[in-house]
Amino acid sequence: MNQQQAEHLAKLSLSQKRLQHTLNVREMAVQLAKRYGADVEKAAVAALLHDTAKELPKQEMLQIFAENAIMADNAPQRPSPVWHGVCAAILAKTKWGVDDEEILSAIRCHTTGKPGMSTLDKIIFLADMTSAERSYPGVEQLRKLEMEDLDKAMVAALEMTLDFVRKSGKDVDMVSMQTLEDLTHKQDQGDSAYEK
Ligand SMILES: [Fe+2]
Ligand SMILES: [Fe+2]
Repeated sequence: MNQQQAEHLAKLSLSQKRLQHTLNVREMAVQLAKRYGADVEKAAVAALLHDTAKELPKQEMLQIFAENAIMADNAPQRPSPVWHGVCAAILAKTKWGVDDEEILSAIRCHTTGKPGMSTLDKIIFLADMTSAERSYPGVEQLRKLEMEDLDKAMVAALEMTLDFVRKSGKDVDMVSMQTLEDLTHKQDQGDSAYEK
């Protein structure tokens, strides 16, 4: 799957508003990929596909999980805002022929992160939170931080996300908490050997 094909799929799957978000995420992902020496084409493809399941009805997502139980893993038991990333990764693999595991992983974990995130995973997670149309308090700081230190930006971004989820009274996804724990643990150790 190349960038052009991914852009075509994004256009087919998304409303105008979410397509604009997606194109902005690609722009930010490309910028971060260049900054951190990640594969620019993979970053662009993952960004373009990351929200392609976002506008599917929940029932349809559950159906996709049921039909792809191994790939779905425990997704149906996790909070529903997490579903669309897992679902988009399943569709990318089964329907659209994406077999690059790095791209699939970045799509899959873009809402929550996961312990042991790759550089590409972090880039897509952060690009999604700092795309040009985002305007929440703190986004400017996060944009600055992500160009300086990817891991510090991840910790700040996850703390903000968890805070937001808690304040809005929604269920916190366990994987987000595990990801934060994983990243802060590595920072405490100052150990770059974990870097993937
Ligand atoms: Fe998303
Ligand atoms: Fe998004």
